[in-house]
Amino acid sequence: MEAVLKLENVSKKIGKKTIIDNLSLSVQPGEVFGFLGPNGAGKTTTIRMIVGLMKITQGDIAICGKSIQKDFEEAVSHIGAIVENPEMYKHLTGYQNLVQYARMHKGVSKERINEVIQSVGLTNRINEKVKTYSLGMRQRLGLAQCLLHEPKLLILDEPTNGLDPAGIREIRDQLRTLTKEKGMSVIVSSHLLSEMEMMCDRIAIIQNGRLVDVQNVKDFLDTDQLAFVVETGPLDNSVTWLKEDWGVEILENGFSVLARKEEIPALLKRLIDSGVDLYGAKQVSKSLEDRFLEITDMAGGQING
Ligand SMILES: Nc1ncnc2c1ncn2[C@@H]1O[C@H](COP(=O)(O)OP(=O)(O)OP(=O)(O)O)[C@@H](O)[C@H]1O
Ligand SMILES: [Mg+2]
Repeated sequence: MEAVLKLENVSKKIGKKTIIDNLSLSVQPGEVFGFLGPNGAGKTTTIRMIVGLMKITQGDIAICGKSIQKDFEEAVSHIGAIVENPEMYKHLTGYQNLVQYARMHKGVSKERINEVIQSVGLTNRINEKVKTYSLGMRQRLGLAQCLLHEPKLLILDEPTNGLDPAGIREIRDQLRTLTKEKGMSVIVSSHLLSEMEMMCDRIAIIQNGRLVDVQNVKDFLDTDQLAFVVETGPLDNSVTWLKEDWGVEILENGFSVLARKEEIPALLKRLIDSGVDLYGAKQVSKSLEDRFLEITDMAGGQING
């Protein structure tokens, strides 16, 4: 399948400063792809280059196979995006805003406008002025705007900023529907791993303008086998079942075992019943969060730049 988005060795320099450094990645049809990184990492800059709001210094970006530099109009016609704050006319109603926006694209029918309003859940308030809208309602209208022309790639920069948990959940559900039912691809950015984990199929970790890692979220969520280290007193022949039933690896002060979390209590109980001194058990396999903190060293929360 052709990638919906392909970044090839993309760099951005402003003055002497390298803001994006040789970034390469691709996004497949139907996936939710996350840009995850601390403040100042370069998420918005990358997005601005993808949507054509900012020139690329080096490298190229292709959208549905079309170069943003050589076939600008066709390339961006496949994109719907909200970068930072969506532009809206606050003195007009939500509906009037959508009509304005629809004019910028060919062939957006009245039916399409209504369909989009329905899908973002704004039917009841669409004829009120945007200045009376809450933040969440503005987000919905922003989403409606960029869905009008049925883009292949939807890009949302920090879509959950300022939303309450219910709003966040709704965005998540909407993205699922758009990708899994309509086959659209979505890029979202955030500095919050917990959100990204729930929303994305894959996550690119960006730091200091570089791509540090791309993680498949499923690899973390689907593995039910976790690694545990169990610290014990001496293990003698009375616990041969440890190796036979559990396939443990004997260590100096105990053993390590691969198991599902729910299985651990039974294992520990049987150990105690066998008269083994038990000092402790801990999970050692890395969660995505451990990995993320390790990679980005964000624990200190400093802004890079
Ligand atoms: N026009 C500009 N001129 C100079 N530096 C810039 C410009 N735009 C962005 N930068 C710098 O580029 C770096 C990346 O900024 P960017 O806005 O892309 O980060 P971000 O990952 O979106 O951060 P946040 O999570 O805070 O939104 C920052 O150090 C920023 O100060
Ligand atoms: Mg940003």
